Amino acid sequence: MSRLRVAIQKSGRLSERSQEVLKSCGLKFARSKDKLFWYGQDFPVDLLLVRDDDIPRLLLDGVCELGIVGENIAMEVMLERDGRDQLHCLRKLGFGHCRLSIAVPEERGCASISELQGMRIATSYPELTRHLLKEQNVQATIVELSGSVEIAPGLGTADAISDLVSTGTTLRANHLRELDVLFRSEAALYGRIDGISAAKRELLDRLLARLEGVMQAAESKYVMLHAPREALQKITELLPGVEHPSVMPLEGSDRIAVHAVCGEKVFWEHLEALKAAGASAILVLPVEKMLA
Ligand code: PRP
Ligand code: ZN
Repeated sequence: MSRLRVAIQKSGRLSERSQEVLKSCGLKFARSKDKLFWYGQDFPVDLLLVRDDDIPRLLLDGVCELGIVGENIAMEVMLERDGRDQLHCLRKLGFGHCRLSIAVPEERGCASISELQGMRIATSYPELTRHLLKEQNVQATIVELSGSVEIAPGLGTADAISDLVSTGTTLRANHLRELDVLFRSEAALYGRIDGISAAKRELLDRLLARLEGVMQAAESKYVMLHAPREALQKITELLPGVEHPSVMPLEGSDRIAVHAVCGEKVFWEHLEALKAAGASAILVLPVEKMLA
């Protein structure tokens, strides 16, 4: 029987959400003693827990068919291999948002990255940084570091850095100023799917359909409200991502009940606008599962 292997981050920013997203696809796992291999119990998909930076290479080397990793890391490895090998981005996952940015010491009077011509830039993403700087006609010397990039300017080993920023805490703590964003990234499911067997392909398609449902359910809300019948068109327009709501008469009232699945985020502003349009008894409920 065919099985698929998914590599995910062992510990770090993406690890918990990666496990969660697979579990919400109905996957259950039995953990090995060393906790690095999780056997899929109800669905033939196993997990490999590894360092995130290793995931694209594990895919390209055929150790696993799928991997959840930041787009920045996948891009770095594809550039490293000079486009000879392709990883397919199968689905962006909506978490692990960060950006690869150029940062300089706070006190440095530098206004744009064009002023970094010929300077030393420390980074753990040499290929991506070189590639993106080249697109902006900046020729810099890349100083490759495997970690603690943010301390390089203070140590005098670089003039600037190109590093991942998510909250900006690391930059502030090291008195660095974000000069420009080179690349925006989030976690995504990647696959090496050329030439896999038909049986694996079928498994993959089932997993992707479930994942699509999970992602859509996460973004969707079930909204119920009461409204005057004549406000129906206005109310429908105000419900984010809704075209055809269900409409029911309310016993003993000239008002109607409107139910709809909103395919986009529902904010307080939406509810306030609905209320202003005459809606009352507005309820917003989470959607647990969805299959189109
Ligand atoms: C990145 C980056 C910074 C930090 C920035 O590391 O190298 O250290 O996150 O985040 P902040 O803006 O919220 O302070 P990452 O989490 O990718 O760890 P890793 O390099 O060990 O994989
Ligand atoms: Zn990492």
